[in-house]
Amino acid sequence: MSRNLIVAANWKLNKGPAEAAAFLDAFVPKVEAFTGSAQIVIAAPFVTIPSVVAKLAGNSRIAVAAQNCSEQESGAFTGEISTAMLKEVGVQYIITGHSERRSIYGESDAVINAKNKKILAEGLKPIFCIGETLEEREGGKLESVLRTQITEGLKDIASLEDVVIAYEPVWAIGTGVTASAEQAQDTQKYVRSVIADLYDQSTADAVQIQYGGSVKPGNAGELLGQADIDGALVGGAALEADSFFGILENSA
Ligand code: G3H
Repeated sequence: MSRNLIVAANWKLNKGPAEAAAFLDAFVPKVEAFTGSAQIVIAAPFVTIPSVVAKLAGNSRIAVAAQNCSEQESGAFTGEISTAMLKEVGVQYIITGHSERRSIYGESDAVINAKNKKILAEGLKPIFCIGETLEEREGGKLESVLRTQITEGLKDIASLEDVVIAYEPVWAIGTGVTASAEQAQDTQKYVRSVIADLYDQSTADAVQIQYGGSVKPGNAGELLGQADIDGALVGGAALEADSFFGILENSA
């Protein structure tokens, strides 16, 4: 089964409009000369999104993502941003379930599921993150933790056609410690088997599953060459145009 790669930058709490413009001035010309077919996504902070969308106008190779959204439609929810607002300003993907949202902001599987459903109802695509802590992995809970996150996060979602899954072992995020290609492949194969259990084999064969956690130009080739790894969700190494492009180049 051949699935297209999706390589996404998650800028997290970095880059206002000026820094984003400088990144794109360096990055876009490289992409224009790049022959690989990977879908490229940039997840920018909310206030940076409109300027990134404007700068990428007419560029079908690079889509823009938000890093979060509200599960609410509208109303008295101070500080929240709705999926409709994000769609209006040109967002196509929204990250959900990131371990930083789960652990720092206490987002539950139920909230993440509500966000996934809201995003899909808006005609947008969630990049739905799952992953275990080191304690959970070492305690033999890897599979049960992932199965619960997947089952609860995708509850009542009938089709995965517009869903991207990102497997990010928490112990590999921002630590410089990457899962070995074998660890990542074994785990992603397991994630795909859970999708087959919950849906069917053809859904499991078609769904894109990214790996995230200290992906760099030097390890992207091996990681993204694995059978069940369909791209990367990149934090630190996506802050510089050269290194993010290096990941793309090495994944082609
Ligand atoms: O969303 C991206 C991930 O959290 C990975 O971050 O590449 O800095 O480890 P990292």
